[in-house]
Amino acid sequence: MTTRSSHPQFPLISGLQRRRFLQYMLGSATATITLGFLWPAESVEPTLENLCSASPLNSRCKDYLPGVQAKNKDGQPLKVDQLLSTAQPGDRIGVKGLADPRLAYLVITDPPRIAEYAINPTCTHLGCTVKWEANQHQFVCPCHGSRYDNQGRVVKGPAKRNLGLTTVVVKQNQVRLVARPLAIDPRVKGP
Ligand code: FES
Repeated sequence: MTTRSSHPQFPLISGLQRRRFLQYMLGSATATITLGFLWPAESVEPTLENLCSASPLNSRCKDYLPGVQAKNKDGQPLKVDQLLSTAQPGDRIGVKGLADPRLAYLVITDPPRIAEYAINPTCTHLGCTVKWEANQHQFVCPCHGSRYDNQGRVVKGPAKRNLGLTTVVVKQNQVRLVARPLAIDPRVKGP
């Protein structure tokens, strides 16, 4: 007795195998459509927010301001020209704007310029808020005494990890804080 098949080119494929193959194809198509809904194209294509916080000079970002505007401790929006007219190299200037962390420290470089990252004052030991001690050039945690240098690197425990960083974009006389870590930690030296 021979196995019958309706397809002349695949005489050995039984009806059961064909059914399984069709079920497999149907399952794959359903999974693809479902993934398309759960993982929309924006997560693959960079959004303008991601693009313009990582590459503010990109031609598509000319009029786009990523993140939120940094404010001083009184809640007034910061103007870059005013800030740099008084800031000194080495200053760390606490600013508000993000929901978490509520405070971030801008880094003033030499010559005076606002660095592309701010230092988050959340202690990496147990989450207390560190304070910038300008005369010691360190961030000091009031809870268990951890100390970090002026870049937020641990110099004394019990904390083991450096302070976190926030992306900063300086544009149109504004300081913009972007709530995402930097792709590359500028404190880590390359090979
Ligand atoms: S929370 Fe900062 S040292 Fe413990």
